[in-house]
Amino acid sequence: MNETGHLLELKNLKVRFPVRDKRAVHAVNGISLSLDAGESLGVVGESGCGKSVTFSSVMRLIKSPPAIVEGEILFNGEDILKMDTKRLQKIRGKDITMIFQEPMTSLNPVMRIGNQITETIILHEGLTPKQAENKALEYLKLVEMPDAKSRLWCYPHQLSGGLRQRVMIAMALACSPKILLADEPTTALDVTIQAQILDLLRRLQEKTQMSTVMITHDLGIIAELTQRVAVFYAGRMVEEAPTKELFEDARHPYTIGLLGCIPTLRTNERRLYVIEGNIPNPVELPSGCAFHPRCKYAKKQCEEEIPELSKITDKHKVACHFDILN
Ligand SMILES: Nc1ncnc2c1ncn2[C@@H]1O[C@H](COP(=O)(O)OP(=O)(O)OP(=O)(O)O)[C@@H](O)[C@H]1O
Ligand SMILES: [Mg+2]
Repeated sequence: MNETGHLLELKNLKVRFPVRDKRAVHAVNGISLSLDAGESLGVVGESGCGKSVTFSSVMRLIKSPPAIVEGEILFNGEDILKMDTKRLQKIRGKDITMIFQEPMTSLNPVMRIGNQITETIILHEGLTPKQAENKALEYLKLVEMPDAKSRLWCYPHQLSGGLRQRVMIAMALACSPKILLADEPTTALDVTIQAQILDLLRRLQEKTQMSTVMITHDLGIIAELTQRVAVFYAGRMVEEAPTKELFEDARHPYTIGLLGCIPTLRTNERRLYVIEGNIPNPVELPSGCAFHPRCKYAKKQCEEEIPELSKITDKHKVACHFDILN
């Protein structure tokens, strides 16, 4: 734990990707957030707002150079961005693991499932191959893999998308991580399988008490699986609140817009996305508040000054110059 007591703390994280003519894609523009032990944090925002780049940076998966990564990513007070490769390898895959939308990107297509899971266990826990195989089997059972024992001998392509996602979750959990980063883990799956995987993740969260970050477009997933939410827009955090409070009392015009596209029980219809316009070009972000060109409440100050993320209650922060609800 660091002096502030957070398990993970991002301090003013900035990531940009240089492109031609000395310009750059400004993917992450000063994200500060924290995660405590056992906590589940949701991260939402439109495509391209920097969710994946932020959490890939936590795993140091962003190649730098060419990317420029600034700020601090403290794990138990130790800056991941400054760790040497040896230290990083100890933490990555053991203390912090990540699962992705498409399991094939992290599974090796020419290696049997069993070997892929045992490889991680042997690397991090120093078990014998036989002990590691038993543990792999235990984790395949934990993720409710049907016919787990015979799956050890399968190659990834022999499994359906939902089963592959279970394998990836088993691999991610096999070394009892302190933090699981889940980047759209169910987006590529059909709805019934999606529900099963989410249910599994929720139960695993309760059982293992690991901290989770759930990155998603889906506010329904946020409502069901997370305790706190961070809303991203154009590489910045525009609102952060306990989940219930965010749904009941959102304050940022962008969050209010996002919530506006949730289907309501009363009308039983899925309303169309209510935020007009598109997410800005990250090479040329708008001045001031990056949301101002799409915001119906925008005033001159919004074009000129970037709003600070400030507290409106103890755990609720908003980055907007105006209190638009008053
Ligand atoms: N390696 C890269 N080189 C250049 N630009 C990149 C690179 N990786 C990401 N970007 C850009 O950084 C911005 C943020 O991308 P990111 O993948 O974090 O978005 P996201 O919020 O995860 O979106 P999605 O919901 O679609 O997954 C985007 O404009 C993206 O095109
Ligand atoms: Mg993404």
